[in-house]
Amino acid sequence: MHNIDIGVVEMTLDVMKYAINRITNISPTLGKPKKEEELYKLVGETITSKGIGGERAFELFKDILLPATVPIDHPRHLAFVPAAPTRAAVMFDLVTSASSIHGAYWMEGAGGIFCENQAMKWLVSLAGMPAGAFGVFTSGGTAANLSAMVTAREHWRKDAANRNKKGLIIASIGAHSSIKAMAQVIDAELILVDSQEEMTGEDLESKINSLDTSQRERLFAVVATGGTTNAGIIDDLEGIAQVCEDHGLWYHVDAAYGGGALVADSVRHHFNGIEKADSITIDPHKWLFSPYDCGAILYKDPELAKEAHSQEGSYLDIISDEGAQGFNPADYQIQLTRRLRGLPLWFSLATNGIDKYKWAVEKGISLAKLSAELIEKRPELELVRPPSLSCVLFRRKGWSPESYTNWTYNNHKEGLALVTPTKWRTSEGYETVIRFCFINPDTGQEDIEMILDTLKE
Ligand SMILES: Cc1ncc(COP(=O)(O)O)c(C=O)c1O
Repeated sequence: MHNIDIGVVEMTLDVMKYAINRITNISPTLGKPKKEEELYKLVGETITSKGIGGERAFELFKDILLPATVPIDHPRHLAFVPAAPTRAAVMFDLVTSASSIHGAYWMEGAGGIFCENQAMKWLVSLAGMPAGAFGVFTSGGTAANLSAMVTAREHWRKDAANRNKKGLIIASIGAHSSIKAMAQVIDAELILVDSQEEMTGEDLESKINSLDTSQRERLFAVVATGGTTNAGIIDDLEGIAQVCEDHGLWYHVDAAYGGGALVADSVRHHFNGIEKADSITIDPHKWLFSPYDCGAILYKDPELAKEAHSQEGSYLDIISDEGAQGFNPADYQIQLTRRLRGLPLWFSLATNGIDKYKWAVEKGISLAKLSAELIEKRPELELVRPPSLSCVLFRRKGWSPESYTNWTYNNHKEGLALVTPTKWRTSEGYETVIRFCFINPDTGQEDIEMILDTLKE
């Protein structure tokens, strides 16, 4: 199977043909899931002692399995946090795979890591962090948040008095579920500030003041959110930075979704204070148009991350030889062997330039504003709150939670759109509402109108 023969050449051409068609298709069919038993009935057993052959496997994938997936870049896929990788980034994802580069150490990956670092330099400059700040690409926001939390915890535990204590982190109720999950991974307690809108410095200060002595001694980090996943709300980053400084706490900003908007002049000021963070998560696979998977973790002092993450082993000693010296991405996050997942972002940035990124992110923000205007013109609809970043929350008057669920399923079943409901707290409790999240610059007014038309009386 490592031989090169005519079969390999033909298969390569088939794969390339598929890739060209997919890269240039701006309106892929909106697939939908099938039950596993159903897929098995259609596909059968694909792993056999002799293999079923690449041609057959590819045919099954294209004809049966692919239609059971949702293309994340469909212009009417506005659920969760969608994605819309640039054509250049997708192309370079192929190149990254074909190049077989180990992205953990400079010794093996120098040229590729150089490219990643150019893209990283740009991310650091967007955040406005001080000289010396740097970061590394991760598999996503969860891994970036975990890498930051481990760094913060290890830094706190350098004080012998903290060595055996269970750490405590404060975040807001708007923080992403990965914060809670990763706090569990590092066995830290998480306390949430109950702020429906942004968490302010005052909210944080009063939460700290409400802690008992043991909790206060165990508090080592605060996680602010730079664009909540549910509503695009940006915490009071300036105020939170000040409180963290006053109390000597690690200040992490989870901007996995919102971080792309640092490039957008129209909203950049809402992120003021992010530059003071000890660590920042930004997911290029969300709003910086990279293919999955690509997250990033940025540190004010990367040395602290290195102290927490660098791995040792006698077979790794060669890495510290002169000549092999350089930036080792493995030292700054939880993963050792890694794909050069920042390469597609680098190629896309190099190809398109920063101005096009500015335009594409601003487009997501203006689509949110436009859809708010269109919603306000329709008597059966009502905005829940003004749009934030590229998120819009609105209600269909008179609908029950079940009506929203049925509406989502119907639109998906008909291949029209994938838009999912969410929950928003009102004075009467949690209400089910509709959530739009725009990322894809190919989405247009007609797409929004098509979706809103399905909500008519
Ligand atoms: C604010 C925020 N943080 C973290 C994550 C987790 O990122 P990932 O899914 O890339 O691990 C998300 C994902 O939506 C997010 O929106």
